[in-house]
Amino acid sequence: MNISRNIRIIFIGAPGAGKGTQSDLLARRYKIPKISVGELLRKLVNNNISNNINLGDLISDSIVCNIVKMRLCKNDCNNGFILDGFPRSINQAQYLTINNIKINFVFNIKLSYKIIIKRLLGRRIHKSSGRVYHIKYNPPQVDGLDNVTGEQLISRKDDNIDIIKHRLKIHNEQITNIISYYKQEVKLGNITSYTEIDGNKSINLILTEIINKINYFI
Ligand code: AP5
Ligand code: MG
Repeated sequence: MNISRNIRIIFIGAPGAGKGTQSDLLARRYKIPKISVGELLRKLVNNNISNNINLGDLISDSIVCNIVKMRLCKNDCNNGFILDGFPRSINQAQYLTINNIKINFVFNIKLSYKIIIKRLLGRRIHKSSGRVYHIKYNPPQVDGLDNVTGEQLISRKDDNIDIIKHRLKIHNEQITNIISYYKQEVKLGNITSYTEIDGNKSINLILTEIINKINYFI
């Protein structure tokens, strides 16, 4: 496989660690699609799913695996893709392996819960595009408005303190197994690298670190 033409990345990491921010930047740089399961789910008109997301609960493995599978079949994934927030359970990780969906790079962005809470409470998004801002750390050019469309930015319903704590608890329950799984996959030669990233650095420093890692192998 020519890896330089087929960069397949997974971002794992807690809610608010910066997965979406980095995925967007890398997608633009490498001209490969960012596949955010959270964004795809939020676009579905389904009350059950919306309620679960707003409560901070995970959606069932069967639903998210099907969504990912269908999205990966599109032609724009032929030269690679970025999975933002998938897998979130060991079943989801195994689903990729069983279905022979090859991954090259796994990045785990790590950040303390205290900082995560500050980031999520200050996050603003542009609903239709999923573009992400922060009122202090990554503000839009015009206060409260999307840089591209000029439309109003909003807060996500699951970005309130109680739901954030619940999301972090769920993440904590799942992440250890997922990390062990990917470390093992690297040992077996199925994955090029598993890398832990200090999410406390600036957006640009993190991006550079990730790009350097990818460039080392391609
Ligand atoms: P999803 O939308 O993926 O939410 P999440 O995992 O909780 O992650 P977030 O999007 O909140 O955080 P992020 O890491 O992308 O951070 P961001 O870059 O925005 O999923 C939502 C829900 O969908 C789940 O709770 C679940 O219900 C469901 N779901 C999704 N995937 C699923 C799956 N696989 N299985 C089952 N259910 C699933 O950054 C956060 C803020 O920080 C922003 O304001 C940003 O501007 C700022 N920021 C980013 N980087 C930096 C930096 N380096 N310095 C300063 N500020 C920064
Ligand atoms: Mg996100």
